[in-house]
Amino acid sequence: MIIYLLSLPFLVFVVNVDVYDAILSRRSIRRFQQKPISIDLLKKFVNAARLAPSAANLQPIEYFIVDDKNLCAEIFETIGWAGYIKPKWTPPVNERPVAYIVILNKDTSKDWNIRDASLSTENIVLAAEAEGIGSCILLNIDKEKIKEILKIPDDLYVDSIIALGFKAEESVVEDYVDSVKYWRDEKQVLHVPKKKLADLMHINEF
Ligand SMILES: Cc1cc2nc3c(=O)[nH]c(=O)nc-3n(C[C@H](O)[C@H](O)[C@H](O)COP(=O)(O)O)c2cc1C
Repeated sequence: MIIYLLSLPFLVFVVNVDVYDAILSRRSIRRFQQKPISIDLLKKFVNAARLAPSAANLQPIEYFIVDDKNLCAEIFETIGWAGYIKPKWTPPVNERPVAYIVILNKDTSKDWNIRDASLSTENIVLAAEAEGIGSCILLNIDKEKIKEILKIPDDLYVDSIIALGFKAEESVVEDYVDSVKYWRDEKQVLHVPKKKLADLMHINEF
């Protein structure tokens, strides 16, 4: 709505702020409301992935949306959650993801295809964040089992999956001190250490 009311230079400014805001606010979410995500929204996320940068523009990545309840239940069993949380934790039955997007790679022998997959994945989680939907990129998964459940053709490799759903947990960034391990406090808020900008950034010299 605002977009139509504003002049073009300002429009560009508004869009840039939105993307940066989504980058800042996005956290991995592992507890979800049991409210469905519309198929149009899920398709929108895949469209965001489709338009990601691609090495030599080869576009080797395909996307498999899962929002069927039975399939979601089967996929859930293939996932390892939040490795730093002890004792071992998985989302309770009333907080499981309501959809997944499976990232499929046509040729895993090419390093750059894995970069393509990562860029597509980031587009999905940011597009989801912009819509108020939580996500978690998952690589601790049983890829062969997922292929079997979803009857994915042999020539496609499961790169990763993204769990999706309206958020049912809060996650906040903390300054990294001496450990990268995230933790949950007594109110179940997740705290995620991130290294400081000054410790990671070099300008013109080390
Ligand atoms: C490549 C990749 C693989 C990941 N795999 C898992 C996973 O298997 N299980 C899980 O619970 N989280 C997984 N995560 C989420 C990370 O734990 C999370 O990104 C990290 O703790 C930082 O938190 P943040 O995403 O909120 O910034 C993965 C993230 C990435 C980028």
